[in-house]
Amino acid sequence: MPVPAIAVCCSGQGTNLQAIIEAVRSRRLRARISVVVSDNPRAVAILRARAARIPTVVIDPRRFSSKEAFDRSLSRIVEASGAKLIVLAGFMRILSGWFVRRYARRILNIHPALLPSFPGCHGARDALRHGVKVTGVTVHLVDSKVDHGPVLLQEPVPVMEGDTEETLLARIHRVEHRLYPRAIQRVLSGRVKVAGRRAFIR
Ligand code: GRF
Repeated sequence: MPVPAIAVCCSGQGTNLQAIIEAVRSRRLRARISVVVSDNPRAVAILRARAARIPTVVIDPRRFSSKEAFDRSLSRIVEASGAKLIVLAGFMRILSGWFVRRYARRILNIHPALLPSFPGCHGARDALRHGVKVTGVTVHLVDSKVDHGPVLLQEPVPVMEGDTEETLLARIHRVEHRLYPRAIQRVLSGRVKVAGRRAFIR
């Protein structure tokens, strides 16, 4: 059986990308990263991909007149790479309805909080400010609303008394790096069943 290809989209540090690269190397994740796409030419993620000899593409959003035009370009890159699954790993863009419909149930995202609590760009900071004692990590399918699609996996992370955003995020990241490759593997092996908002991993 050929190894399934995945496209990973990143805008920043790419520590989740690195965890995916390492999971592929150690065969915990039976996949091939066919392309890493970034909307940010300065993303550290690009350097990580290059170091792992993975093809990279930077798409400059300023070259496009609309969100959908950007997404059509992204779609062409994904298709040309042969990827069957799109993995968002710190990709700081909201995808258009067109893109989300086209790849329904084939886009994954990871969020640094237990959704539906604390959606948006600062999941860890918002949880800390709110004073919750437990936050966590969510891996979910992407639908047309931000941080909203059916949840695939979640894991709690405790908030400690002396936590700053930095220390909390570090603890969250450790969980993300373990959880995301596992979720991707399960989706690729066809072990996910979706019924409305509820997704079950068998
Ligand atoms: C992660 O915390 C992820 O949950 C969120 O963006 C962050 C990306 O971090 N969506 P990195 O670029 O993978 O280090």
